Amino acid sequence: MKWLWRYERSKEVRHLGARQWGVALALAWLAAVPAHTDAAEKVPERAPENPVLPYRSPDHTLGTVNCASSTCHGSISEFRDSKVLQTEYVTWSRLDKHTRSYQVLENAQSLRIAKNLGLPAPPVQSALCLDCHAHNVPVELRGARFKLSDGVVCESCHGPAERWIKTHLEPDPSHARNIEAGLYPTDLPIARARLCLSCHFGNADKLVTHRLMGAGHPRLSFELETFSMIEPAHFRLAKTMDSDTMRWDGVKIWAIGQALAVSETMSILLDPKRGHDGVFPELVLFDCHACHHPMSEERWKPHTEFGLRQSPGIARINDSNLLMMRVIARQIDPALGQRVTAQAARLQAASAGQGDLDDEARALQRLAEDVAVRIDQTSFSAAFLKGVAIGLIDEGLSGNYSDYAGAEQATMSIGSVVDYINRQHLLAAPGAVNQSLGRLNATLVNDEHYRPADYEMQLRGLRTLLVRQAVSSIGSVSRQ
Ligand code: HEC
Ligand code: HEC
Ligand code: HEC
Ligand code: HEC
Repeated sequence: MKWLWRYERSKEVRHLGARQWGVALALAWLAAVPAHTDAAEKVPERAPENPVLPYRSPDHTLGTVNCASSTCHGSISEFRDSKVLQTEYVTWSRLDKHTRSYQVLENAQSLRIAKNLGLPAPPVQSALCLDCHAHNVPVELRGARFKLSDGVVCESCHGPAERWIKTHLEPDPSHARNIEAGLYPTDLPIARARLCLSCHFGNADKLVTHRLMGAGHPRLSFELETFSMIEPAHFRLAKTMDSDTMRWDGVKIWAIGQALAVSETMSILLDPKRGHDGVFPELVLFDCHACHHPMSEERWKPHTEFGLRQSPGIARINDSNLLMMRVIARQIDPALGQRVTAQAARLQAASAGQGDLDDEARALQRLAEDVAVRIDQTSFSAAFLKGVAIGLIDEGLSGNYSDYAGAEQATMSIGSVVDYINRQHLLAAPGAVNQSLGRLNATLVNDEHYRPADYEMQLRGLRTLLVRQAVSSIGSVSRQ
């Protein structure tokens, strides 16, 4: 699990959070519904809350070199009187792995992947790889100074600059005008989530399929908030405050990321191009360790996390994001939590042949959207956060992280929530909690040797610490 040490290392790094929330989110969720739902539910693709993703923009990309001047974004020290840091290029070029994303396509691992897949051209000439590892826009939309080999560049996230380059240099630049001129609204949590997930989780346009992983591509593991921290962020912490509470809002980013991942999973499942690979469904949607474990190792026990007893012998849909979403939903409203449980059980049953998979996937996607809207409307009090943290742990203590993917996702989630609680100065001895998190992380270092019992033991220790430490200031939370 390579994200762990980076997460530790980057604890001090400035990072981001939500800024603008509002009706926009509700609309964005409706917009996320794939084409087969009623057209009436959709908002136009150009609506501000459902922006065209940068790689689909009709505008010209100018190239990163245009941003790099020391009077623009390439300053080595922060500009005091500027709205933005102006060091963004330096942070990106020196610390951000996105700069290397093209070069990795030339390494031995990539060449092997291409060979195993039988690709007709090397990875640096294959759209399959370039679509995620570079800014692979159509040739006619590439400016004179654009270089494909720059990797995932400023304009991959902020949108092709053809029109907004001028508006953002006006003496009194306006965010709204920039957005109108094609700047991607990375400040809107829902838009940002969709952007990062497009490469780190997959969407209907691009996906690391089971076949790609079988050929040697690393499994993607992503949690929006953790990855936003470790990128590292090239923008101001002050930008990350929730305007109502003046609190850093990373937890909302995390929660949105979970709900959106559930929704994306359902759209991949429903997509006729993506949901299948030959006679098989797309295996990447399933729990990897359902199939990939030695037969001699009898660690099977029936899965009951959504109240439905599923016996060994059935490949289960990877439900790690669903488990996270349920914890959040429960904390918002127990009835909402129950709806998630019931719908997830119906999906699992349908995936095992009892019910219509498409109907259940569609219903679950709609529910994920409801949950996101409710997240938007919820103010994240300290008690709420503690409830979420304890809820995440209790899912594990009920045996629900018996698969590695679940434990991994839960650990990133617990890390994000606890880190947030700590930033509110609500932990009496953060050092002890940090050490406990470290021990939890240590049980996940190797996915082949993951032992649920060890993991659960560390979870129990962490729970005790959290209850004891955080209890005086944020009220007690009982075990559900
Ligand atoms: C859906 C997007 C997507 C596609 C398609 C894709 N990749 Fe990746 N790839 C990623 C992401 C995201 C990572 C980084 C994973 C991480 O670190 O969490 C990655 C990581 C890698 C790595 C490991 C890099 C490292 O630093 O160790 C290699 C090698 C790689 N990809 C090669 C390829 C090749 C070759 C192809 C085409 C056959 C390809 N990828 C297609 C998204 C993609
Ligand atoms: C992987 C995606 C990604 C890449 C690549 C990227 N950015 Fe960003 N950038 C973001 C996100 C997310 C934010 C924070 C959201 C916000 O407040 O708009 C941000 C914020 C910023 C801001 C602050 C905006 C504000 O209003 O405070 C500037 C300036 C910026 N980026 C410039 C750059 C430049 C220059 C590059 C290339 C050298 C770059 N970014 C590359 C995602 C990216
Ligand atoms: C155009 C596709 C693309 C987009 C959009 C994108 N990424 Fe990435 N990202 C990649 C690829 C490919 C890599 C792998 C680079 C490598 O391993 O060298 C990567 C690597 C990373 C890493 C390093 C992971 C590691 O293992 O160390 C972080 C962190 C990250 N991305 C965060 C983000 C965040 C946050 C966003 C959204 C603001 C985002 N990315 C948007 C393609 C993308
Ligand atoms: C339904 C069962 C099933 C699920 C679920 C599944 N796989 Fe596989 N996997 C297979 C089969 C079958 C093969 C092919 C084995 C062979 O060709 O020898 C395979 C092959 C692979 C290989 C190549 C292994 C090799 O021998 O080189 C990798 C890597 C892999 N899977 C990763 C994953 C990951 C990661 C996941 C979860 C996201 C996953 N698989 C989910 C059944 C599954």
